[in-house]
Amino acid sequence: MNIAILKENASGETRVAATPSTVKELIKYGLKVSIQSDAGLSSHISNEDFINAGATIIKSKDELLSKANIIVKVLPPTLDQIVLFQSNATVISFCQTTRELDTVKALREQSVTALSMHLIPRTTLAQKMDALSSQANIAGYKAVLIAASELGVYMPLLMTAAGTIRPAKVLVIGAGVAGLQAIATAKRLGAQVEAFDVRPIVKEQVESLGAKFIEVKSDSEDGIGEGGYAKETSEEYKKRQEELIEKHIANADVVITTALIPGKSAPLLIPKTMVDNMRNGSIIMDLASENGGNCELTKMNEIVEHNGVRINGIVDMARLMPIHASELYAKNITALLTYVLKDGQLELNLKDEIVSESMYTHLGEITNEQTKLAMES
Ligand code: NAI
Repeated sequence: MNIAILKENASGETRVAATPSTVKELIKYGLKVSIQSDAGLSSHISNEDFINAGATIIKSKDELLSKANIIVKVLPPTLDQIVLFQSNATVISFCQTTRELDTVKALREQSVTALSMHLIPRTTLAQKMDALSSQANIAGYKAVLIAASELGVYMPLLMTAAGTIRPAKVLVIGAGVAGLQAIATAKRLGAQVEAFDVRPIVKEQVESLGAKFIEVKSDSEDGIGEGGYAKETSEEYKKRQEELIEKHIANADVVITTALIPGKSAPLLIPKTMVDNMRNGSIIMDLASENGGNCELTKMNEIVEHNGVRINGIVDMARLMPIHASELYAKNITALLTYVLKDGQLELNLKDEIVSESMYTHLGEITNEQTKLAMES
């Protein structure tokens, strides 16, 4: 079987879905690997590195895709790529299938089988395929480093001859994978860290990293959704949460927001009025910006200033650390592929939980229920 690794052509995207080491592994599993010319350059992998690992470099996208049985990418395939896919080819990439409806439609029409790295179940067996986690980890780390380098104050407590400098205050909203890494990174830099999440279960994880957990007391199951994810909270909860965040945000130097609800727009947690009360010189890093943002003033892929507060809405911060982001993503993809490859052939067993949950189009049908609903509404 032929596998094609496409070059990402979206502006600012630096990642690639294979590395020389994963190329070697895929060849060991019986695949013939072709890579679009220069696909690895932004991740500091040359065409020659890929050739030395056993891959073929192909310049023309048309030629590459005309022979490909499997196509792997980081971002969802674009419409002009999809029309070149062979029908019955399989494509694997990130795709928020309930939002990227034009992509889903085009894949269905082309009769392509598509699997999304967004839909890989969060189970122990699928852990090594969990690209959401590998990339969110980097995003959380990078967000703190960017904020630290742009802040006008030190992160740690310092006793100097000229006086004592208080540590910076960092507030993390959403303590999932990105949030926990942000907490750990800010703590390593010496900041005073507070964190908030709707899932009370994360309290212990937040505290084990040395941060203070701030919580909305609630007897109900508010905020706790299926599969360990969050769900939308009640109006009453939202009100109490807003009051709590308002109190803590006014003292923060850095606010890192990562709150997401799968398949929905990001919850709005920081209205403009809260930003009005923030310290001049403080920074909000809104990691939820791709899904609408947790702050009312966030603009996707822009940095905006409001009364001296900088709001950073750059999406996919993992792409700012391309070597490790590509290395980990390529490993996640390869773990999924080697799981479904039998004797060099793809065997997509629809009874397998990892396959059925991550698949969203197959044989001209949309197979993911949430995506079907989004398409109908
Ligand atoms: P996510 O990216 O979907 O959301 C980020 C965080 O935002 C979550 O912690 C969520 O509770 C929080 N959030 C949502 N709405 C909020 C609100 N209104 N206010 C404050 N916080 C809000 O989550 P992520 O990081 O992808 O993790 C999701 C779940 O999956 C977690 O339970 C995590 O522990 C679990 N997980 C399990 C893995 C495994 O077992 N293999 C691997 C990775 C994650």
